[in-house]
Parts: sequence; structure tokens; C-alpha cells
Amino acid sequence: MTTFAAGQLKGKVAFVAGGTSGINLGIAKGFAAQGAKVAVLGRNPEKAASAAALIDPAGANAIGIAADVRDFAAVDAAFKQTVERFGPIDIVISGAAGNFVAPALSISSNGFKTVVDIDLVGTFHVFRACYAYLQRPGASLIAITAGQATHPHRGQAHVCAAKAGINMLVKCLAMEWGADGVRVNGISPGPIDGTEGMARLTPTPEKTAALIAKIPLGRYGRIPEIADMALFLSSESAGYITGTILDCDGGGQLLSTSGELG
Ligand code: NAP
Ligand code: COA
Repeated sequence: MTTFAAGQLKGKVAFVAGGTSGINLGIAKGFAAQGAKVAVLGRNPEKAASAAALIDPAGANAIGIAADVRDFAAVDAAFKQTVERFGPIDIVISGAAGNFVAPALSISSNGFKTVVDIDLVGTFHVFRACYAYLQRPGASLIAITAGQATHPHRGQAHVCAAKAGINMLVKCLAMEWGADGVRVNGISPGPIDGTEGMARLTPTPEKTAALIAKIPLGRYGRIPEIADMALFLSSESAGYITGTILDCDGGGQLLSTSGELG
């Protein structure tokens, strides 16, 4: 449950790429609960429509858009549609991602490229395309990255490489766009309960328990905790924060430089 004062995003417009399920849907719901109008984007049209209906059953303040972040023209069209419906965009989340666990020797060229294209190139597409549609100054752009960006994991070479690229992209864009009043940051969640990501990474109760035992705070994170961090980064309280990757991981980043998944 958020501890933020109610209505702090009243009149704001948020666009959440990958916002049709999991953590990003939780972020979109958090924004809407604070009064924002919200667009969520994912590949599956039915999933996008039901996510929008979940966010705002009345349909006035949320839209679901089907597009693949690997397709720049489709991403650009999604921003255009959002602006035509709600007006200039104040907040952009880039959270679409793909993951599977596989040792590098089991990953084909296309398998590696697929994850880099969705996570890293997709984030470039989302941030590059949104620029023309932003409320400037004042916009807040947030990439959803992961501990894989900074800690090597077995079976995650593709994801580690892609997320590391996202962290650096965030810092470069923060430098280039700061003068226009556009802040660019990242959120690095730890393992979050009830998500597709953790279903893939720790698929058994034994692996889940082993990972939890390593986390300093001794539990998985909760989706609303990531939503609150996105809310903070998008608020005026974070007006002097840019180019930063904020960990929300129960202290997981304090572990050894090699993050083992259970
Ligand atoms: P999820 O429920 O699978 O959400 C992924 C979202 O991205 C869905 O909306 C999905 O919709 C969309 N998507 C996937 N590929 C896409 C593409 N090519 N184009 C457009 N949309 C696409 O995943 P999650 O576990 O909540 O993870 C969300 C984010 O948090 C990811 O960036 C992940 O790396 C990060 N993260 C998660 C955890 C965790 O504990 N789960 C930990 C650290 C970081 P469609 O399938 O319809 O396209
Ligand atoms: N091990 C090795 N390679 C794998 C794999 C696995 N478990 N799963 C997929 N791949 C490879 C495929 O074999 C293919 O390569 P190939 O053409 O050389 O055979 C390549 O990845 C692309 O697979 P495809 O299924 O066509 O990709 P897609 O674009 O339809 O789906 C994925 C992308 C693979 C990332 C899919 O898991 C996905 O859509 N994930 C989104 C949800 C998600 O991962 N959520 C968690 C976020 S943390």
C-alpha cells in the first residue's frame, strides 16, 4: 500500500511499455491510482485491452495498445495515439523484457539477439520515440533494469548483456537530455513475488527458498514496492535525480559480484 499523498499525478499522462502484466502493470495501476491517465503497451492485443480495463474499468483514463518494442514505427505510432487521446506525456516507463534461463552454449545467435532486441534496443526505441511527444521540461523517463546488469549470472548471459546496456543507455540519455528538463533513471528490482520473471528464474519451491535465504531482508519484493519507487522518481521530490539506477532489492546488490539464482 502506497504511503504517498493521494492525487499527486492528477493531470499527468503516463506511458508504460510492457505495462500489460506483472511489475509494469503494477506501476501503471499505481500511477492511475494517483490520478494519471495511463497508456499500457504489450504485444498481445487481448492482454493489452484487459490490462487497460483493469486499470480503469470505465475506460476514460486508460488505453491498451498492442505493439512490439522491436518495431520502432509501431512504438512511435503508440506514442502518437496516446498524445492524441490524453495530451503530452509526462512519464515513460520502458519495462518490456524477455527472459529464459539457458547457458550461453545453448543459445543461438537469434536467441541472444531476441533478448537484446526486446530489452536494450526496445528501450532505445521507447525513449527515442517518446521524445517528440514529451512534456518538456518536466518529463520523467524510467527504464526497468535488473541486478543482471551489474552481477553476472549463469544462464543469463543474454539478459546480463542487455540489462547492462540499458544501465549505460540511461546514463547517456540523462546527460544529453538534462538540459531540456528531461530526467532519465532506472529502477533495478530484486526478485519480485508472483511475477513471470521469477517463475522463469526460480521455477521450484527449493530454488525460491534458496534465493530468499541469500537476500538480506529475507523475502521477495512486492509489486507495489516497485510501483512506489516509480512514483517517487516521477514526482517533484525526485526533481534533482537523473542518470541514477535505484535498487529495490532487499539488499541483494550487496551480495558477491556473482549473483547466483538459487
Ligand atoms: P512480465 O509480466 O512478463 O511483463 C513483461 C511485459 O512486457 C508484458 O506486458 C509483455 O506483454 C511485454 N512484452 C514482452 N515482450 C515485448 C515486446 N517485444 N514488445 C512489447 N511488449 C513486450 O514480466 P515481469 O516479471 O513483471 O518483469 C517486468 C520487468 O521487470 C522486466 O523488465 C524485467 O526484466 C524486470 N525485472 C523483473 C524482476 C522480477 O522479479 N520479475 C526482477 C528484476 C527485473 P506481451 O507478452 O503481451 O508482449
Ligand atoms: N533456451 C534457448 N533459446 C531459447 C529459449 C530457451 N529457453 N527460448 C527461446 N529461445 C530462442 C529460440 O529458440 C529462438 O532462437 P532460434 O530461432 O535460433 O531457434 C529465439 O530465442 C527467439 O524465440 P521466439 O520464441 O521466436 O521469440 P519471441 O520473440 O516469440 O519470444 C522470448 C521472446 C523468447 C523472450 C519469450 O520468452 C517471451 O516472449 N518472453 C516475454 C515474457 C518474459 O520473458 N517475461 C519475463 C520478463 S523478466
